[in-house]
Amino acid sequence: MKQLVLYLGIVLWCIGCAPEQKESKKESIKASEKINLTDKGIGPVTTVTLETTINEDLKKEGQVLFQTHCLSCHKTHKKLIGPAMVGILDRRTPEWTMNMILNPYEMTKKNPLAKALLEEYNGSPMVKQITKETQARAILEYLRTLE
Ligand code: HEC
Repeated sequence: MKQLVLYLGIVLWCIGCAPEQKESKKESIKASEKINLTDKGIGPVTTVTLETTINEDLKKEGQVLFQTHCLSCHKTHKKLIGPAMVGILDRRTPEWTMNMILNPYEMTKKNPLAKALLEEYNGSPMVKQITKETQARAILEYLRTLE
């Protein structure tokens, strides 16, 4: 009898914890892997139009800027101090991405997605390196070509 009660108790406990497990599985999608193609972020950039063809001059300018200002923390295909950049536009809007480049402090304070990223990266902050919108746009053109 005692054993039966114990057994029942264990079964009930397991049923009770099953939904919780599901919940924590949901939580475990990393912020850097979350896809959000509607959030435009907070900052100076509200609309970006991407042409279907790559603007090669803009891309080259962006590549140089990326190598000078970003490469110390971001590799193109591997996580470093910050997330890998490949496929960024499959996960984020162009506007969000440019606002993250131009306005990282406010973004990581007020934008829920950027806030979660900062947490994932243990509070190590992205440093603002670029102030001109045209330069951020050039970097975006370069990031588009990563595959
Ligand atoms: C001092 C290191 C550092 C530098 C320099 C830096 N970043 Fe970051 N970046 C980070 C970190 C860390 C994160 C993750 C969010 C956080 O912790 O603030 C991040 C996040 C990002 C994100 C969002 C990534 C995602 O998966 O959503 C983009 C886009 C980005 N950085 C682009 C750039 C670009 C472009 C430059 C150069 C102009 C740059 N970063 C310079 C450290 C840096």
